[in-house]
Amino acid sequence: MKKIQELLDAELGQAFRAAGYDEKYARSALSNRPDLCEYQCNGAMAAAKEYHKAPIQIAEAVAEQLKGSKLIGDVQAVKPGFINMKLSEASLSAYLNEMRMDERLGCEKAQQPKTIIIDYGGPNVAKPLHVGHLRSAIIGESVKRIERFAGHRVIGDVHLGDWGLQMGLIITELKERRPELPYFDEAYEGEYPAEAPFTITELEEIYPTASARSKEDADYKEAAMQATFELQHGRRGYQALLGHILNVSVSDLKRNYQNLNVEFDLWKGESDAQPYIPDMVQRMRDEGHAYLSDGAWVVDVKEESDTKEVPPCMLLKSDGASLYTTTDLATIVEREKLYHPDEIIYVVDKRQEMHFIQVFRCAKKCGLVGEDTKFTFLGFGTMNGKDGKPFKTREGGVMRLEYLIQNINEEMLKKIQQSRPMDDREADKTAKVVGLAALKYGDLSNQASKDYIFDVDRFTSSEGNTGPYILYTIVRIKSILKKYAETGEKGEGAIIRPASSESEKALQLELAKLNGVMESACEEYAPHRICAYIYDLANAFNKFYHETKILGAEDREARAGWIELLNLTKRVLEVCIDVLGFAAPERM
Ligand code: ARG
Repeated sequence: MKKIQELLDAELGQAFRAAGYDEKYARSALSNRPDLCEYQCNGAMAAAKEYHKAPIQIAEAVAEQLKGSKLIGDVQAVKPGFINMKLSEASLSAYLNEMRMDERLGCEKAQQPKTIIIDYGGPNVAKPLHVGHLRSAIIGESVKRIERFAGHRVIGDVHLGDWGLQMGLIITELKERRPELPYFDEAYEGEYPAEAPFTITELEEIYPTASARSKEDADYKEAAMQATFELQHGRRGYQALLGHILNVSVSDLKRNYQNLNVEFDLWKGESDAQPYIPDMVQRMRDEGHAYLSDGAWVVDVKEESDTKEVPPCMLLKSDGASLYTTTDLATIVEREKLYHPDEIIYVVDKRQEMHFIQVFRCAKKCGLVGEDTKFTFLGFGTMNGKDGKPFKTREGGVMRLEYLIQNINEEMLKKIQQSRPMDDREADKTAKVVGLAALKYGDLSNQASKDYIFDVDRFTSSEGNTGPYILYTIVRIKSILKKYAETGEKGEGAIIRPASSESEKALQLELAKLNGVMESACEEYAPHRICAYIYDLANAFNKFYHETKILGAEDREARAGWIELLNLTKRVLEVCIDVLGFAAPERM
C-alpha cells in the first residue's frame, strides 16, 4: 500500500500544479503543531523565492485547490505560508480497512530483494557470554527480522571467536591436568574418543584458571602460545580437542541464545575462514596490494579525505601468524564464495570501528568483493550501570549474561505477583516472557550507537516507555477481544468506522503510519524507530480506551467497528514486537 504521506504528496502535487506552481514544492510532513493539524506542507515558503510572491498567497492558492479533496478533510493556509491539513475521517478509516485486509498490513515488500548477511552475536568459544555480547545479539536479531520482513534474503551468522589464544590456554591447562589423554601424544594415530573430556561447567572453569595463570607464569603462557600455533598449523590431537571445545560450547551458547529468542542461520566461526587465508594473502601480494613492512605483510588503506589516521591493514605478522583483520578478510572471501551477498552488516561494539574501516577498505581495494557490495558497520555503544560506568556485578566483576537475565526475571516475577493472582507456574512463565521484553525493549529503544544505562527498575516498570508497558497494552486489547467473543455477539462484516472522537482519530492516525515506520527502520537499521512508534501507538490506544466505552457502547455497529479497530491495533503491535524479537503473554 502507498504510504499516507505519499497519497498526500500526490494530491498536494496536483494542487500545486493546478495553482500554477512547480510540484517539487509539494512535500508533506508530520505536523509539529498537532494541536492545529495532522500534516503540514511548507513548500509555499520555498516556492515564494522562485515565484517572487508572498508565501501566504501561494499557500492560499494551493489550499483552494485542495478544497474538494476526498483525502483531506480540512485544509488551511496559515501565515507566513504553511498549508495545514487534516485527513478526512472517511479516507482515514478506508485506509485502515484496506490495511486490515492485507496480510502484511500495508507494508510492501522490497522490489529488489537483496541477499544480506548479518554478522552478530560474536561470542567467544569457551568464555561465558557476558553483557557485552548482549547488545550485539539483541540489536542484530532485530535488524535481521526487520530486513527479512522487508522481503530481503537475510542470513544471520554468529561468527564465533574460536581461533585465538583461549584455545591454546585450554589445551595447555588440560594437558597439565590430564597428560595421559591421547590428544597430547604426538605418536598417537588412532581415532580420538567421540566424547569430550570435559563438560561445559569444567570448560568454564578451565579457561579462567588458565587465563589467570598465564598472566603470572611466563613459561605457561609460552606453552599456550605454542599450543595455539600448533593448533593453527594442523596438529591432529589439538584439532580434535578444538572440535570438542566447539561442540560443548556451541550447545551451551545455543541454549543461552534460545532464552533470548535469538536464532542464527549459520554457526560459523573464525576457524572456518582459515583455509582461505594463504591464497588470499598470495593474491594480495601478486597483485601488488600487500607489501612487507618491518617483516609484516600489510596493505595501505588510508585515503586523502581521512581526518584521522587510518593505519595500514596488517595481514600477517612477521612470524607468519594471522590476525583478527586477516580472519575477517578471509571470512569475506568465504562469504562471497558461498553466498555472494549484496550487503554484509556487522553488529559489533563501536570501539571496533577502526578495525572495520580497515577491513572494508582492504576488501574493496583488493577486490575480495565487487564494487557494489555494501559493507555496513553497525557499531553499538556500551551498556552502563547506574553509576555511568560499564555494567558490572556487585563485586565489580564482569556480569554473566545468565545472571543478568535471572535478575530481570526475578524482578518481573515480583511485580507480576504483586499485580494479580496467578499460579506459580504461569507466573514463572509470564515473568520470563515479560522479562525478555523488558530487557530487549530497554536496549532497543535507544539509538544503537549510544551508550545507555541498564536500570532493572525502570525496564521492568509497567508504566512509561518500557517493554512491559507495551505488553500490558496488548494484553489489555486481548482481554477486551476475549470478553467481546464471550458475549457471543458476532460483528460479521464489520469495518473500522470513521473516527467519532479526537482520541479515536489520533489512534487511527498512528495505525496508518505503520508502513512508513517499517520502511525507515529498515533503511536506517533502526529498531529504535519501531520502539518509538509503538510507544506512541500504545499511548494513543490507552487514551482512546480510557475515553471510550467500547463493550458498553449502545450501538451494536459501533461496538463491532471498534472491535475491528482493536484487532488492527493488536496486529500492528504484534508485528512490531515480533521484529523487535519478543512476544506478548496471554495475561499478565
Ligand atoms: N568475537 C568478537 C568479540 O568478542 C566479535 C566478533 C565480531 N564480528 C566480526 N566479524 N569481527 O569482540
